[in-house]
Amino acid sequence: MNIFFNSNNMEFHLQNDKISYIIKVLGTGDLGHLYFGKRLNHRENFSNMLQIFEHQVPYTPEQIDGVSGFALDTLKQEFPAFGTGDYREPAYVILQENGSRVTDYKFSKYEIFNRKPSLKGLPQTYLENDDEAKTLQITLKDKHLNSEIILSYTIYKNYPIITRNSNIINNGSSPLTLERFLSFNMDIPQKNYELMHLSGAWARERHVVTTPINQNRISIDSKRGASSSNNNPFIALKEIGADEFKGEYIGVNLVYSGNFLAQVEKDHYDNIRINMGINPFNFSWILEKDETFEAPEVVMCYSDSGLNTLSQNYHKFYQNNLIRGEWKHKARPILINNWEATYFDFDEDKIVQIAIKAKELGVELFVLDDGWFGTRNGDTSGLGDWWSNLSKLPSGVEGLSKKIDEMGMKFGLWFEPEMVNPDTDLYRQHPEWALSIPNRKPTLSRNQLTLDLGRAEVRDYLYEKLSKILRESKISYIKWDMNRNMTDVWSGVLEGKRQGETAHRYILGVYDLMERLTTEFPHILFESCAGGGNRFDAGMLYYMPQIWTSDDTDAVERLKIQYGTSIIYPISSMGAHVSAVPNHQTGRITSIDTRANVAFFGAFGYELDLNHITDDEANSVKRQIEFFKENRELLQFGTFHRIESPFENGFQNVSWIMVNKDQSEAILGVYRIHSIPNPSFDKAFAAGLNPDFKYKIEHEDILGEIFYGDELMYSGIKFRKIGIDTHDSKNLEKLGDYSSKIIKITKI
Ligand code: DGJ
Repeated sequence: MNIFFNSNNMEFHLQNDKISYIIKVLGTGDLGHLYFGKRLNHRENFSNMLQIFEHQVPYTPEQIDGVSGFALDTLKQEFPAFGTGDYREPAYVILQENGSRVTDYKFSKYEIFNRKPSLKGLPQTYLENDDEAKTLQITLKDKHLNSEIILSYTIYKNYPIITRNSNIINNGSSPLTLERFLSFNMDIPQKNYELMHLSGAWARERHVVTTPINQNRISIDSKRGASSSNNNPFIALKEIGADEFKGEYIGVNLVYSGNFLAQVEKDHYDNIRINMGINPFNFSWILEKDETFEAPEVVMCYSDSGLNTLSQNYHKFYQNNLIRGEWKHKARPILINNWEATYFDFDEDKIVQIAIKAKELGVELFVLDDGWFGTRNGDTSGLGDWWSNLSKLPSGVEGLSKKIDEMGMKFGLWFEPEMVNPDTDLYRQHPEWALSIPNRKPTLSRNQLTLDLGRAEVRDYLYEKLSKILRESKISYIKWDMNRNMTDVWSGVLEGKRQGETAHRYILGVYDLMERLTTEFPHILFESCAGGGNRFDAGMLYYMPQIWTSDDTDAVERLKIQYGTSIIYPISSMGAHVSAVPNHQTGRITSIDTRANVAFFGAFGYELDLNHITDDEANSVKRQIEFFKENRELLQFGTFHRIESPFENGFQNVSWIMVNKDQSEAILGVYRIHSIPNPSFDKAFAAGLNPDFKYKIEHEDILGEIFYGDELMYSGIKFRKIGIDTHDSKNLEKLGDYSSKIIKITKI
């Protein structure tokens, strides 16, 4: 890994074994982008990569007098401004006191060092040792405004990854209003790319969508106050024809949990501009003298060998350099959560019965979900009153947690700290703490309002209430939920001209509260949640190592959700539970084995009353738990390869495999969605194995036992053909819809 600077040509080359990133200070002092992609040998001069026309370009302002064709509008840039000739989408817009939005930030200085500077109050990737990465910081200065923009680029020794962010400092005497201040921009020369992103809705999060890029602008965003289930803060440029195993991908992921904007714009010369950051919509930020504003970090990852490689680098990077704390590399306990088993309708006895049965079958952690506090007997009241509901739990959470502990199980608790029902003591005492606009009726969603976490006193109150419960009870896990999107975005502690800061200040407040609680309780395993996956992002993973992936627990829908989520986020970060059938979100019936075979690829658990399953199913659960305990290191921290996608070929078959570091063990998951009468020979393919290792497979459905890795990967694993005239119900089950297999592959 190295960062070269060539002072003659004013070029920076960030390079490691896998990638190169090349920047050039243009004749105007603007920062030009020359290259991002597969590693290039270093040369003293990459100016040939510039895109300067040798003639005047009609209707295109020229920036250097007398140099025909030197036009910002046609040059590739790093952090483009508005107002001096580049008509594409800018990275920032700054309103000045005189009403102008035209600025003049030009190269002023640079620094290269062996560390990664930290961001204040924002989630971020970090280094364990300074020699893991090198950073280039480039300062741009607008002399008239006496203001500086600092762009940071960090390149890593072991990953094809560059992290970037941008800061702005106002040293001038007048305030500056940031109307837009994105985290990064990059202009890529013409190439055949498509756009890939993860889109969806509640219960259908992070479905993979691919869109052609024509001469227009595509915006992927959230204005919901959360990163959202509708669009994840991630985009990738995908070379046309690339797939899981081949071709080029450039991924960009924002480490942020609030409103975001990601844009892809193909210009009139077929350059592609991509940029990303805090959504400028309903955003503005007043920067007074001597103040700094920091934009969140983006993580850019490059692969020239398919999407799996891109994902595997994101997974390892996030597991090592984003997720923190004791649970970072620790296999997660098998939990049971009572939400789908009881919803709000429970008392201590019911909970204890669920826990006893779960313990008997091998579950390790009991999680008490929504409904244990205040007057919370439904979703219309109680949210915000964080004390035990003694009519449901006579000995309180404290007593219950001790009972569960005495049974030999860990105890976990649900909170939704950011919200309040109007029907609560908290709201009656502090209606002003909820986001709402004076003299207007605030908009309810799930009968609740959002507390203004931008206010220090709200955070202090919540910290005190939550930490008291955590200190008094035996709690080893917290589920931190958040069940609505923002409306009535207005804060009682900000003056009128600062209301554009409310949503970002809210997220900074959430981060502050999470930081305080996770620091004070380092042994607790925190799981973030937002009505399922409404805030599944890298920002949350900085504070909490796992996230409830979706409220949709249907195994078949989960194939899509977990497949899409795995494009960026590690398997260990995805909460995945076996629930009851008919499934509560889809009404679909799948076998208990298929439900587990999907949930195994995640932070595994159950979410049903195990007293209400058949003896056969209970035996299966016992076996599933034993299997998971034997294999959880591999399942949660191995290298994940997606093989067959639920988003292709009509959602017929899905498969994926987890392989350990030395390729001596692997677990392949194979799922069939619809059964076919009189089918052909059935096969599955492994991936990620060592072609020259000999492996053993013991599985009643597989022909043969000993194979080389190459045969398993390239010729495939052939399944025993089941006769169509079979009347054996076990065989019929294997033929049917939603059947699945888990295949353990072991080196001999
Ligand atoms: C939404 C979560 O995603 C569910 O798992 C559950 O905790 C409910 N909220 C409780 O209200």
